[in-house]
Amino acid sequence: MQKLEVFGASQLKGQIKISGSKNASLPILAATLLSNKKILLRNLPLVRDIETMKNLLESLGSKIKYKNKELIIDNTRQTKKFASYSLVKTMRAGILVLGPLLAKFGSAKVSLPGGCAIGTRPVDIHLKALARLGVKYKILEGYVHATAPIGLKGAKIKFPKISVGATENLIIAASFAKGITILSNCAIEPEIKDLVNFLNSMGCNIKWTAKRTIKIIGVKEVTETNYSVMFDRIEAGTYLIAGALTAGNLRIQNIIPSIIQTEIDTLRKIGAKIIIKKNEVQIIGNKKIKNLNIKTAPYPGFPTDLQAQLMVLLCKANKKSLIKEDIFENRFMHVAELNRMGAKISIKGNLATVEGSTNFASAELMATDLRASVSLILAALTAKGKSVINRIYHLDRGYENIEKKLKKVGAKIRRVN
Ligand code: EPZ
Repeated sequence: MQKLEVFGASQLKGQIKISGSKNASLPILAATLLSNKKILLRNLPLVRDIETMKNLLESLGSKIKYKNKELIIDNTRQTKKFASYSLVKTMRAGILVLGPLLAKFGSAKVSLPGGCAIGTRPVDIHLKALARLGVKYKILEGYVHATAPIGLKGAKIKFPKISVGATENLIIAASFAKGITILSNCAIEPEIKDLVNFLNSMGCNIKWTAKRTIKIIGVKEVTETNYSVMFDRIEAGTYLIAGALTAGNLRIQNIIPSIIQTEIDTLRKIGAKIIIKKNEVQIIGNKKIKNLNIKTAPYPGFPTDLQAQLMVLLCKANKKSLIKEDIFENRFMHVAELNRMGAKISIKGNLATVEGSTNFASAELMATDLRASVSLILAALTAKGKSVINRIYHLDRGYENIEKKLKKVGAKIRRVN
């Protein structure tokens, strides 16, 4: 089992190039199942979840060539409709193949994603909304058995709760439904906008008609396309927080600053100096970190995927901060490990009280989920001495070359077997 050794304390200085977005690539890869034409995708991040999604598509019969972050998909002989537990259990986004398989074949058998460290991860919103398009489904032995006996038919659907995955599954399914589908109360994460742009690039007919409302006119077939996925805003936010945390000076490149305005505003409130350039944000950290009360929210609110990372920063603030996790029911798995490093964080339900003025002490640590793992690295960067982070396979799911990128800006970090 690989681990990371981090020798603190460091002050990060230099430039970091942001990779493509994992959370845009996954629904876009699932959506390629709609097409029997050649698809070229560029700027995919070299992370394990992309590998897993590629394996899932190949298990469904897609022929995929993947090198230097370019992926060419040929679905001319893609006929299978069974997505196995062995692949879906390690990557909950596997449920996103359900919509396209139903749209293309009118039936599918897809494993339920199962829970994970951050929550039970139900898919009831996906299934109830698909039923509104004419899908019949039953859950048997951990699988969704779904059929669309007379094909998918457009409908007006209002999501009962904002869900990124459910919005993505329905946009993809409705792209091939007969007639018009109106989805309201949609999630509007930038990755969803990227999915819509990708679908329209291959001839789908999708328009945002209001902030959280989208109109989809079903099409019968799609064209070839060549598409480059957007940058990873969570990776960008993570490194911005690293710059603030180490009172460093980092230039985060290959990004669209307006997409991370909330993160920029939050870091300015905490006392960091931020200079916005065309495709870059420079952060100059301040030794004095101001406290803050914040809650996670659907986009454009503060992202739950940066909550653990921000918590590390607020441990160094001058006074107490409150963080409310409003998206997932159990996304404080990093707290126990941070407290072992000397943090003083207490939890009451979905509210964390973070005492300030923490001096993290190096320690042997255990990662639990993707974003918790990276928060342990951030804390270790400020702790004098050697910290060891175990179970970094969580990390490799979503951060491309993290130790290389950090080493380049002055971190003393290495991967050991
Ligand atoms: C996506 O997960 C992201 N994953 C998550 O990123 C991200 O944290 C999350 O959106 C919120 O922004 C990908 O894009 C691959 P949701 P998703 O459906 O789609 C509940 C990371 O670290 N819910 O918006 O699963 C759900 O339990 C990952 O990159 C239902 O109750 O998130 C959660 O409490 C972690 N029923 C809330 O809604 C459903 O049918 C939001 O979930 C679906 C969701």
